[in-house]
Amino acid sequence: MKKKLALLLVAGMTMASLAGCGGGDDAAPADAAPAEEAAPAEEEAPAEEEADTAEEAPAEEEAAADEAAPAADGELIRVGFAQVGHESDWRAANTQNYQDTFSEANGYELSFVDADNDNAVQLEAVRTFIQQEMDYICIAPIETAGWDTVLQEAQDAGIPVLIVDRSVDADASLYETQIGCDMVAEGEMAGNWLAEYLNGEDANILVIEGSVGASATLGRTEGFNNIAEQHSEWTILDSQSGDFTQAGGQEVMESFIKSYSDFNVVVCQNDNEAYGAMDAMDAAGITYGVDGDVIIISFDATHDGLQYTLDGKINCNVECNPLQAEFAAEVIQKLQAGEAVDDQTVVVDQAFVAPGIESQYATTMTQEVLDGRAY
Ligand code: AHR
Repeated sequence: MKKKLALLLVAGMTMASLAGCGGGDDAAPADAAPAEEAAPAEEEAPAEEEADTAEEAPAEEEAAADEAAPAADGELIRVGFAQVGHESDWRAANTQNYQDTFSEANGYELSFVDADNDNAVQLEAVRTFIQQEMDYICIAPIETAGWDTVLQEAQDAGIPVLIVDRSVDADASLYETQIGCDMVAEGEMAGNWLAEYLNGEDANILVIEGSVGASATLGRTEGFNNIAEQHSEWTILDSQSGDFTQAGGQEVMESFIKSYSDFNVVVCQNDNEAYGAMDAMDAAGITYGVDGDVIIISFDATHDGLQYTLDGKINCNVECNPLQAEFAAEVIQKLQAGEAVDDQTVVVDQAFVAPGIESQYATTMTQEVLDGRAY
């Protein structure tokens, strides 16, 4: 019912865009991750649910919905995207991927808002999209909490919402689908690799977390801790937010260096934080990487992050694939066609390790691997 109503409401809407910004140097090419890489986490709606939906939708409404689909008669599909911000290279690649995928040439008009990591700005952007009667709204939520009210408003307006990249803790009936990487699995991958690498040796670990309240932070922390709990020889000395930025990573690492002298592992929850942590350790004369005293684990596996991994400065880099827009486009095309969509799409990740390291959990970096990367 909800989906069909949404299709009805998009008819005859005027075109209007919010001020666009964002993008980055790390342009993600159009040959994004292939669809097979996405594994639906849940089966499609069971037969009874389908039957319920069909019962609720009167025949006239179905017919009108078909007529109303904007793409059917050459109209652009209007998509509002409330992006987290521009805090990292990963984010720049993700933004570029959305801008490339939701192009006019592909049949879309994308209204893009960079919320600059500000919850209030992001909520306001979504409300503006609702007022503008967008056909669809994509939200990459800064934080997991605080979404029920605005999602209810979008649903009341008949606008389907796709939660992308990160997740929310709102009632799942308030949005169509969630598309993103499994952040807990990423954290576990990092932990499993560390356990394999250390092979029973002691670890004194410092963690530079991502932004407070973000599912990427919560998931990676939970996943890594799941493995840490199995290792009594590991101690997590401290864990502080570096806000997913290079400056944040540097600041937290500088403060860790003042407080701790006995650490041998630094876990950075994204590549930009790792660059900042490396700057701080360079300044303090602390060596790191495969030939150094401190093991560095990072997340994202962006181009520069993998260059550092290839150079042996980052020991292990766990991917978070930013090329997710095609999955959102696939969902929108299905909704346009009146088809059911999966509740969740998990974008599959892998891990990479520096040359000289062999791992059952990760690919050993080579120049060829780096050259073959799409972002
Ligand atoms: O939500 C994805 C995370 O957000 C990426 O790891 C990080 O770089 C970004 O800021």
